[in-house]
Amino acid sequence: MPAKVVVIGSLNMDLVTRAPRLPRGGETLIGQSFATVSGGKGANQAVAAARLGAQVSMVGCVGRDAYGEALRDALLAEQIDCQAVSTVDDSSGVALIVVDDNSQNAIVIVAGANGALTPALVGCFDSVLQAADVIICQLEVPDATVGHALKRGRELGKTVILNPAPASRPLPAHWYANIDYLIPNESEASALSGLPVDSRQTAQVAATRLIEMGAGKVIITLGAEGSLFADGQRLEHFPAPLVKAVDTTAAGDTFVGGFAAALASGKSEAEAIRFGQVAAALSVTRAGAQPSIPTLGEVQAFKTP
Ligand code: RIB
Repeated sequence: MPAKVVVIGSLNMDLVTRAPRLPRGGETLIGQSFATVSGGKGANQAVAAARLGAQVSMVGCVGRDAYGEALRDALLAEQIDCQAVSTVDDSSGVALIVVDDNSQNAIVIVAGANGALTPALVGCFDSVLQAADVIICQLEVPDATVGHALKRGRELGKTVILNPAPASRPLPAHWYANIDYLIPNESEASALSGLPVDSRQTAQVAATRLIEMGAGKVIITLGAEGSLFADGQRLEHFPAPLVKAVDTTAAGDTFVGGFAAALASGKSEAEAIRFGQVAAALSVTRAGAQPSIPTLGEVQAFKTP
């Protein structure tokens, strides 16, 4: 039986424009292309875990609109269980994304239906959580819902992962005791710890601080620099495979989903981190969120160029 991963989080339709560079305030730029692509941090992580070998259930909300239908269909096409994806009377979540010629992006999200994922609604699907080996949350649904999901995951004895994205402020202090793996990027690690994070050294200091704040284990993703693991006893840097990036959208989501799938399947933490990093590296070589996420076969066949 494949390991079971449950993702509690957002589904967004990504409205993606490619432009030579990101616009400045008040500026109009001529874009090079436009596409609508299925995304949302929660849904991306669900797709990553499913393509990378796990059996996945999604808990979330879409709007009663064409985007909502497309977002659900995209998950069903990956054999993701959507019994806990509710359709609500709101518009589906959207993300306005600009990707520049250096493969960097800027994103504005509008939560829409994602805001309807309340603790009570998650409670209606408690049997889905009970069946999980690993539970993953992010921060694109209401804080109260994330807090509930982390607590319920801990009560049920599941492995609980929080990808605190997007984060611009510290997390509620009582969440930390319910988190087995906290996986922020550099800016999120900085927002959570209150410390600057712009290098491997500063990431080490922030990771140590986040452990002191109560997180079980911390993995700070460092983009092309790889990732930094900390568990209170040891700090270990994992270099990333070198690839030519075209679009970094959903790289973090691919890492989180891949790490969770690998961990749930019985791989060690170190193996799961390396596996997630290869998956993320492959994802940045392709455009878009869900379309960029590789399959298990592609990760297994990957050779460092
Ligand atoms: O992490 C990438 C995702 O962030 C995009 O798919 C977008 O929907 C935003 O949620």
